[in-house]
Parts: sequence; structure tokens; C-alpha cells
Amino acid sequence: MTTSTDNFKVYRNFAELEGEFQILIKKAEEALKTSYSPYSGFTVGAALELTDGSFILGANQENASYPAGLCAERVALFQKGAVAPNQKIKALAVVAKRREEKNYRSAGPCGMCRQVMLEFEQAQAQDMKVLFKGDGETWILSHSSSALLPFSFGKDNL
Ligand code: THU
Repeated sequence: MTTSTDNFKVYRNFAELEGEFQILIKKAEEALKTSYSPYSGFTVGAALELTDGSFILGANQENASYPAGLCAERVALFQKGAVAPNQKIKALAVVAKRREEKNYRSAGPCGMCRQVMLEFEQAQAQDMKVLFKGDGETWILSHSSSALLPFSFGKDNL
């Protein structure tokens, strides 16, 4: 059984996810291994599934000058912009955990990443799904990026 609203779907556990999403989460797990997070000890991996079936991965990259670091989601998104600008993104998955722990934390994308996700979604004129861990064993699927940033500011407001 799943709980759904217009914008979001809540899966009770990993096994309930469609195979395509399970694969994308596995890619995000793979990405997490390249996290450079000596300051926070918080490792984050993100994976994008493009419409041609390929994947782009990113992990958080920190810096001794803390604000200079970048979240996993934006590392992956900007990488996509740099290497596959003409492709569209079907979905983004993100996983996060403390380095010393085994289990993933409940962690939706931060506000700045949501803003960047919105820009990519608007540019491609196609919804970008976003998948992340909810409480307990649950996983949350947002059917679009815009749903994660209500009353947003975007290029149409300029
Ligand atoms: N972080 C991400 O990579 N994505 C998010 O959406 C939230 C936070 C990273 C940034 C920093 O390296 C660490 O997690 C702790 O905030």
C-alpha cells in the first residue's frame, strides 16, 4: 500500500519502489562513495536519470572555506549542464548518511538545490521527478521539482 497526493507518492519501503527507481537509488549510493566531506562527516550522493537512459552522478564536495562547498544534487546537475546540455532529466535521486552510520537518513534536498532543480526543470519544459528518503523505511517521490518549491522565484519572474 502507498500513500499518494497529487504531487507526492510515499512508498512504505525500498521494495515497493518501481525497478527504475530502485536502480536510480543504487546509482546515488554509488555516487555517495565519492563524497568529499571531511568537515561535516555527512555523505550525500545524487544520481540523475536522463531521457536517453544514461546516468549522471554527483556527491557533496566540501572545502576548508565552508560556504565554498557544494551539495551532491548541484554537483550532479551542473555536471549534466556541462556534459549533456541537450538531454532532459527524468528523475533525480538523493541518498544521505553520516559517514560512520550504515542507514540512510531522512533527507530531502536543501533549499538552494531545490532552486537549481527548478531552473533545470523549467529549462527542459518537462517534469523532473525527485526521490529521497522519508522517515523510517519510507521513500518519497515528488512528481516534479516545482512541487518541492511552492511560490518560487524563477526566470519567468524576471
Ligand atoms: N548536503 C548535500 O549534499 N545535499 C543537501 O541537499 C543537503 C546537504 C551536504 C552539504 C554538506 O557537504 C553536508 O551535506 C552537510 O550539510
